[in-house]
Amino acid sequence: MHAARIRLASLHDKIMSAPQAALLIKDGMTIGISGFGGAGDATAVSLALIEQARRDPLKINLITGASLGHGLDGLMAEAGLLARRMPFQGDPVLRKAINEGKVMFIDQHLSEVVEQLRGGYLPTPDIAVIEAVCITEQGHIVPTSSVGNSASLALAAKQVIVELNLASSPHFEGLHDIYQPQNRPHRGAIPVLQSNSRIGSHAIEIDPSRIAAIVISNTAEAAVPMLPPDNDTQAIANHLVRFFENEVEMGRLPRNLAPLQVGVGSIANAVMCGLIDAPFNDLVQYSEVLQDSTFDLLDAGKLKFASGCSITLSSACGERVFKNLGQYAERLVLRPQEISNHPEVIRRLGIIAINTALEFDLYGNVNSTHVGGTHMMNGIGGSGDFARNAHLSIFVTKSIAKDGKISRVVPMVSHVDHTEHDIDILVTEQGLADLRGLAPRERARIIIDHCVHPDYQEALNDYFTAACRLGGHTPHDLNQALSWHIRLNETGSMQAVR
Ligand code: COA
Repeated sequence: MHAARIRLASLHDKIMSAPQAALLIKDGMTIGISGFGGAGDATAVSLALIEQARRDPLKINLITGASLGHGLDGLMAEAGLLARRMPFQGDPVLRKAINEGKVMFIDQHLSEVVEQLRGGYLPTPDIAVIEAVCITEQGHIVPTSSVGNSASLALAAKQVIVELNLASSPHFEGLHDIYQPQNRPHRGAIPVLQSNSRIGSHAIEIDPSRIAAIVISNTAEAAVPMLPPDNDTQAIANHLVRFFENEVEMGRLPRNLAPLQVGVGSIANAVMCGLIDAPFNDLVQYSEVLQDSTFDLLDAGKLKFASGCSITLSSACGERVFKNLGQYAERLVLRPQEISNHPEVIRRLGIIAINTALEFDLYGNVNSTHVGGTHMMNGIGGSGDFARNAHLSIFVTKSIAKDGKISRVVPMVSHVDHTEHDIDILVTEQGLADLRGLAPRERARIIIDHCVHPDYQEALNDYFTAACRLGGHTPHDLNQALSWHIRLNETGSMQAVR
């Protein structure tokens, strides 16, 4: 087994147990751990570290690709292990610790983390812990179901712990395309010219003398809960499909559309599934997380190729895909998140970006991160990388939340992640607002008429009419702009009592 999975024989004496490897991690260190969206995390060493912190309290600064799977983010928060955490999470326990101010969370565009690391404004990781499917003859690391920030973390760290996961499909080898941009000031173009361009190597090319430990694990892929499509998400998908059909008819998009990026979450996944029955073929994806919908579309023969930085699946889909990964090998590539989310590439490829809003306002500003303007949900993730640079930037959401107590279309968003200047299209189950080429007052009219739930339409219209009386390019009544959020806090509902 060792000969096949650790092909550089001189590394065999680096094998140790997870608790032994975790002892290399000391209080106050900055640690990079592989993992993105629940895929490819170094679970065994992380669990051993959590145990260590429970016995003998220690705190680390943790950098990953994005959220960790197997409940690790929550377990780390519970064990008091995290002093600082970046750049994304999605765990209820960690979320609570962040919102109580116990963990300093740095919520950052996912393409930018390793630029900051290289630039020296983030501390150099003392140790990087990287899950691998194997180590090559050269001592290079072949990652598993995510690349995320693993390559840059491993290259930057003083020492590397490799967690060799025997449960990972050997077909991951060959799937990755690891590329590091050149250093400035002589950086050239990043030569990804199409979704399926391969510009790098199959493994993380580190100097094997920096491998301090190899831990053998046997961890099943983490499963991500995914809600099935419902009537509302189907309606959102139908609005989008009609919009795309019209764009094709008008000659603004080809029949296979443009490379698609689809954000995290059940809504975006369900909307993407809506393309299965749509009249578009030979689709390609240039995205960040590849969710169930990618594989549903590949299996349906609708999608030709998918590029991402991680594969994050529900248990049912994972069961189907990971056992048969070899069948998908020619149609998939996994890149570092710096490249999957790179503004240069996103703009060049002319991507259609579909992300989810928690709420948006009548001018098209989007809040994807902060509930009620203050409480962190998950983080901006890659949505900003894509929304700012896409050819078509689309945000989807249901028009209401919490049984109608919350309108997701509000007079003014309580926090802005994506400004009105970056948004082209907004869609709810009620309808689609095409904001391209419109001034704020025109945008408001279309959003109110097409996107708002009927229970809130009159109230939003009244707000807009009153704000217009006060004047301005983007009319607002600042005394009332956040009144819906305030009413929600005070009464439990945004609905006015009549
Ligand atoms: N105020 C308060 N709560 C709200 C809300 C609002 N305006 N809108 C939604 N919610 C609640 C929902 O009720 C739901 O709560 P529940 O879990 O208790 O049922 C929860 O937030 C999730 O909402 P929903 O929109 O239904 O789910 P989702 O799984 O599609 O996730 C985001 C939506 C915005 C949280 C998610 O897409 C996200 O984290 N986005 C930011 C990062 C990103 O876009 N990354 C992709 C880049 S590739």
